[in-house]
Amino acid sequence: MCGIVGYIGTQSATEILLSGLEKLEYRGYDSAGLATVCDGQIKSVRAKGKLHNLREKLVGVEMPANVGIGHTRWATHGKPEEYNAHPHTDDTGRVAVVQNGIVENYRELRKELESQGHKFVSDTDTEVIPHLIAAFLSNFTGQREAFFEAVRQTVNKLDGGFAIAVVCADYPNEIIVARQQAPISIGLGQGEFFCASDTPALVSHTQVVVSLDNGEIARLTPLGVEVYNFDGDRVNKLPRILNWSPTLVEKHIFKHFMLKEIHEQPNVVRSCLEAYINSDWDAMNSLVSPTNLKLSSSLYENLEQVEIFACGTSWHASLIGKYLLEQLAGISTTVNYASEARYAPSPLRKNTLLIGVTQSGETADTLAALAMEQQRRLDKPAEFESILLGITNRAESSLANLVNQIIDIRAGIEIGVAATKTFVAQVMAFYFLAIDLSWQRKYLSGERIAEIINGLQKIPAQMEQMLETQDSQIEDFAHQFNDTQDFIFVGRGINYPIALEGALKLKEISYVHAEGYPAGEMKHGPIALLDDKVPVVAIAMPGLVYEKVLSNAQEAKARDAQLIGVTPESTEADVFDNVLAVPAVDELLSPMLTVIPLQLLAYHIAAHRGLDVDQPRNLAKSVTVE
Ligand code: AGP
Repeated sequence: MCGIVGYIGTQSATEILLSGLEKLEYRGYDSAGLATVCDGQIKSVRAKGKLHNLREKLVGVEMPANVGIGHTRWATHGKPEEYNAHPHTDDTGRVAVVQNGIVENYRELRKELESQGHKFVSDTDTEVIPHLIAAFLSNFTGQREAFFEAVRQTVNKLDGGFAIAVVCADYPNEIIVARQQAPISIGLGQGEFFCASDTPALVSHTQVVVSLDNGEIARLTPLGVEVYNFDGDRVNKLPRILNWSPTLVEKHIFKHFMLKEIHEQPNVVRSCLEAYINSDWDAMNSLVSPTNLKLSSSLYENLEQVEIFACGTSWHASLIGKYLLEQLAGISTTVNYASEARYAPSPLRKNTLLIGVTQSGETADTLAALAMEQQRRLDKPAEFESILLGITNRAESSLANLVNQIIDIRAGIEIGVAATKTFVAQVMAFYFLAIDLSWQRKYLSGERIAEIINGLQKIPAQMEQMLETQDSQIEDFAHQFNDTQDFIFVGRGINYPIALEGALKLKEISYVHAEGYPAGEMKHGPIALLDDKVPVVAIAMPGLVYEKVLSNAQEAKARDAQLIGVTPESTEADVFDNVLAVPAVDELLSPMLTVIPLQLLAYHIAAHRGLDVDQPRNLAKSVTVE
């Protein structure tokens, strides 16, 4: 969603701010702006739409400042118009603020400020912040700490979740940043300091960062960074080193980040296997776990069930997780839409492992659902204790702060809004968890576990072979769907979530209407949609439900639908009008491969239509508001 950047140092701030904002474009936005401080004045430039509009407005504008803040806004309060774009200023234009999140009590604050004579010019919740700061500043006139104190007093008046960066014309050597529920990190350079709501904007300048925790406020000056809590007490923070190379945020030979990330999947799976499979384990040696997850034994003690909370693609990965946990480890598992569960929680279950799955680690609904579970288990008997596990790509995220332990899915930063490599890495995390639990509970034999691990080890090479042959094949194939308006995806068992994921990928980036169904449900209603204009993609992998899916596919074909099989090249393949071939692997492992042609199909259909694949309309990479 929104993005914040800030710079203070000796270089010209404007270009650093603009290139930082470009690194945050992937998060989704609809207007942008920046403010710099120079010669005792704030200069602010804002534009509706994409960053190139802001760049155009800056042509010919003198902005020689070494201090500034910038923002990309994803509209919540007020339309995506220039007058609502950040930075927002006070009446005198001497304080400028950018904000991510929502100030929930902005109506009361605005009323109060208006009654004191403050004039508001936007529809946003953010605008109350510079006005409040300006009001507090007048109480501290002449004091050295005035700017910092005015911002500190202000954040103590705000309700909601937010991250802010503030500059003031009267304090040209300071940027103040603060965090309450929305992420912000500070990058430490040599005599220069940066801030950003997400680390991709920092990695090309520095890999040494300090991330603020909730309720912390920091002062950045050319001499250093000081962090305090909202009460004003100094906090000592240890910097951490980012393990992302700056090249991860470049497209290289690929036209879009999404295509690059699809092609990165074999290596992501390899890196997960290296990190989490215990090479010392052998099927006969039951003393050590087959995995290196290193989860605390408290997560497993008396475990009776698992409850998962997630949204979107992470919810699809969780459905595969449920299948694996139930079939490999015999643990009954429920998967909740986080946005639904938080308002209609199921009755409290005892001895339950609660898992939050979110690649960004910042999805507001998922965090709120977990926090609610934590809250309602307080003061309950020991068997209701909240035991929280997170599965995330961001080991430093809000999720990681909330839960007892995480599985870091190690996918490397994902820039495309449509999740691809983080999806396969989340599914890998569930294989490891299910294998670990299966071993702990002695549910499967050592031989069967070894067979599964062996199959997983082959996945990266199989993915590579598929990507090599299918990328251009599907690019050609996608041409015929330039005018198609509806798609149906069907699958069963462990591949039903892949049907959902294939449909979501297509919807998100090509704006083609698509639905995923369990193949056996088609005849209970959706089959009425079928005719020769609605292609049906059927995922048919040899195994328990193979014949069933083939029969369901035949029913679609009998209604004139173009039938596309995601299936091995085999004699039954002639059931299909077109085949997107998948190696004939164990059905249990097949989602790792069946998802690939569906990602490529969605990508090439969208790319043919000339759409903005990496930043589809209305979407944001991490959904930090409810
Ligand atoms: C995936 O392609 C989507 N952009 C979206 O559904 C996403 O999976 C969802 O918003 C959850 O995000 P998270 O994994 O960061 O929690």
